[in-house]
Amino acid sequence: MNYFENSLKKLKSDFILSNTQILDIANKFSKSMKAGLDGKKSSLKMLPSFVGIPTGEEKGIYASIDFGGTNVRMFTVELLGHGKTTIIKQISVPLKDQKKGYDYTSISTTGTDLFNFIADNLGSILIPTLKYPLGHTFSFPCHQLDVNKAKLIKWTKEIKTSYVEGQEISEMLKSALKEKKLHNIFPKAIINDTIGTFLTSAYNNPLTSIGSICGTGHNSCYFEDNSDGNRKNNMIINIESGNFNEIPFTNYDLLLDIESDKPGDQHLEKMVGGRYLGELTRIIISEYIKNKLIFAKGNSEMFMSPNIIKSEDLSCFMVNKGDSIKDWLNSKCNIFNVLPQDIMALNTIASTVILRSIQLIAATFIGILLHIDQNLEKDHIIAIDGSLYENIPGYAEKLDITLKNISKNRFSIDMVKNGSGVGAAIAAALV
Ligand code: BGC
Repeated sequence: MNYFENSLKKLKSDFILSNTQILDIANKFSKSMKAGLDGKKSSLKMLPSFVGIPTGEEKGIYASIDFGGTNVRMFTVELLGHGKTTIIKQISVPLKDQKKGYDYTSISTTGTDLFNFIADNLGSILIPTLKYPLGHTFSFPCHQLDVNKAKLIKWTKEIKTSYVEGQEISEMLKSALKEKKLHNIFPKAIINDTIGTFLTSAYNNPLTSIGSICGTGHNSCYFEDNSDGNRKNNMIINIESGNFNEIPFTNYDLLLDIESDKPGDQHLEKMVGGRYLGELTRIIISEYIKNKLIFAKGNSEMFMSPNIIKSEDLSCFMVNKGDSIKDWLNSKCNIFNVLPQDIMALNTIASTVILRSIQLIAATFIGILLHIDQNLEKDHIIAIDGSLYENIPGYAEKLDITLKNISKNRFSIDMVKNGSGVGAAIAAALV
């Protein structure tokens, strides 16, 4: 085996986990959940949501906001009962738009600007003469003081908007609605996106046990059952699993962490989340270039600048035929002299980074299942939403296989679409 083949082999052995390693992580995750719940030292925040499980018979017309960090989406939703919902109207607006000259995620914008922007857009889809109870999904770690009161602990996913951390998000939204004279909107609930995903699935399926986002960011929630009287939280708990830190970093992860906005934070999310997987792939590729293993004949300077690879690009790297990789290199990097070795490296690196993301997320799901049903005696539904799960080729299938290989076959996955928008409406209905 030559040096090139050896380095790809080493990369795989550093990244890809055995079933025993996955189970070990699952056990650690489960212990950290318990520690977090008991107020002991833990990287898992285990935040109460003050939201319980819907019956599926909640009804009415609601407005909702889904603020996740890339786009902000607004909905009007009708809950019809019998587990059925319908989206009446929806819009999605990017939080930054170079052509229009705005960026509501940058440090130079304030929370007031951001929420005024949200209120303006929300107003555009509502009928002024109707009254709307509102559910608000805010996909960041928050101290929830009540179902309609949440304080942002810290931004994640590299958002930097000023004067929001430590603030009451619910109050900022209320002020913006007042400022924009939207007196027909009544905020009722503020929830995490994982909770929205959970609620949307649970609205028509009582077996839902876990809600999860596998997208730009990663996180999960679950229902903490108090029926045995031992635990104080009889509600859905937002784990903030993206912050789990009991998995060793490779040197590549370390490089990514150092260049991130908040080194040390969101340890797991930096290994599994769409915001980071493209960049992690770029970091590995750049090391291969520095070691003269690939692109011997091409101009590979571009790979030295951060963030040129997005997680969407990984889909094309993972197609093993090579044409899609060649096209990408031609059009994005002006690299035309592509050798089979270059294609093989990009394909293996991207597939390895993605497979580790799948395995680590599977490990956390098993950890949660162990916490709620130690001997896996009941059936469980894991509700998942998010761009990685939906769009990366093979992601959903491999996640399912990894879970089935390790745990008893007592769960199924429910892919939830628009979980955050519909779930926020359900949360508003539960209040
Ligand atoms: C946030 C979570 C959120 C997840 C998915 C993470 O960065 O901390 O609150 O649920 O992203 O959007």
